[in-house]
Amino acid sequence: MQLWKGRFKKELSKTTNDFNSSISFDSRMYREDIEGSIAHANMLGRCGIISEESSKDIIEGLKKIQSDIESGKLTIDPEAEDIHTFIEGELTKRIGDNGKRLHTSRSRNDQVAVDVKLYLKKEVEAVKKLVTDLIGVIAKKAEEYSDTVMPGYTHLQRAQPITFGHHLLAYGEMLLRDVSRLSDCLKRMDEMPLGSCALAGTTYPIDREYTAGLLGFDGVTNNSLDGVSDRDYCIEFASVLSIIMVHLSRFSEEIIMWCSWEFKFVELDDAFSTGSSIMPQKKNPDIAELVRGKSGRVFGDTMTLLTVMKGIPLAYNKDMQEDKEAIFDAVDTVKMCLTAFTPMLDTMRVLPQNMRKAAAGGFINATDCADWLTKNGVPFRDAYKATGELVARCIELNTDLENLPIEEYKAVCEVFSEDVYNAISLDNCVSRRTSFGGPAPELVKEQAKRMAAKAEELQVEP
Ligand code: ARG
Repeated sequence: MQLWKGRFKKELSKTTNDFNSSISFDSRMYREDIEGSIAHANMLGRCGIISEESSKDIIEGLKKIQSDIESGKLTIDPEAEDIHTFIEGELTKRIGDNGKRLHTSRSRNDQVAVDVKLYLKKEVEAVKKLVTDLIGVIAKKAEEYSDTVMPGYTHLQRAQPITFGHHLLAYGEMLLRDVSRLSDCLKRMDEMPLGSCALAGTTYPIDREYTAGLLGFDGVTNNSLDGVSDRDYCIEFASVLSIIMVHLSRFSEEIIMWCSWEFKFVELDDAFSTGSSIMPQKKNPDIAELVRGKSGRVFGDTMTLLTVMKGIPLAYNKDMQEDKEAIFDAVDTVKMCLTAFTPMLDTMRVLPQNMRKAAAGGFINATDCADWLTKNGVPFRDAYKATGELVARCIELNTDLENLPIEEYKAVCEVFSEDVYNAISLDNCVSRRTSFGGPAPELVKEQAKRMAAKAEELQVEP
């Protein structure tokens, strides 16, 4: 069944119908389609565009269709052109002429735009909730490991000592920005396009504000051409989802490394690991790898949306039907990744001794040694050079800065005294890094508490 039969003499061929149809991926919006239609019918009745009686008849019919779909009594026809066509057709089948009145002063162009926005608004909230759950787990773990010393890296080379809590909080910060990006994206999505009609509004005396109120939108779109041809909200949401995946993917990459025998900083719970069919010793971090891999899909979806939209003239063009698979896939993927990632992190066993062992090697306290000299009057550049020479000497003697005799220190720079050993002890190197945002355990503890409170606050936000 098509809604646009009037001027056509021939049926669509089966292949054309299949090619043109979007029911296989837009039927998931049946609730939003019905919700939008109920609000529209309500407004039509209120504005006297159709009779109150017709309006009521339509609304009842639509509610019944929804409950029949939900109870399994009514199956969505996979041969229908799209969900809008199916529901309107079913309504007319059930209530006759009043069903045919529903589409007065409306087009599928503004209908699909409102459906997608209604659907995505809920999804933004759902993703926000999942990201917030993850932030909560990060904050909890960061507090627990606020004084666990580990090496901090640049270029994947041991650089300076930090705490594991500090490292975790870095991801918490990224995800907090993601939550704020989601809220921002929601604000711009919150304009109702219904009433733009096909492209040029309508001559009927509609009340768009009223419909927007019924549907819970913050306001209405200002321009009818833009109302039906805008897909920024899909692109923007997909972009935010892509950034979330960048963060999850980086985090996954670190977890994968930390699980290796080369690091052994953490061990994943058996419930989040898999084995090998041939190598009995293997315990693989598949979940983290999949999250890392799935980031590719979400970036691809974002690229699809950008490319679909970039060359189409105003207003609606059928290309835009391609928006749904991309944005739905991006949303589904991110939700799935978060659902797997959060409990994986929550149950991950941390191995502080191994982190500490790694932090004790690699001359991770060399900067602190140079800083000690600087604090004792040597210009930093000279102190840097002297410490470099000491590191070279340690390598020669196969020792480290903690065990290098004071005579060796003095031979390089006579300012050195026994006090330097205190400054370069691993615990001091970390606990003295108290500049705001730094890794000192007391700071991390406070930051973790603040983050946990923020996550809790976000959970109760409307
Ligand atoms: N299934 C279509 C879509 O998803 C609905 C809009 C159809 N509009 C049209 N003028 N053919 O975009």
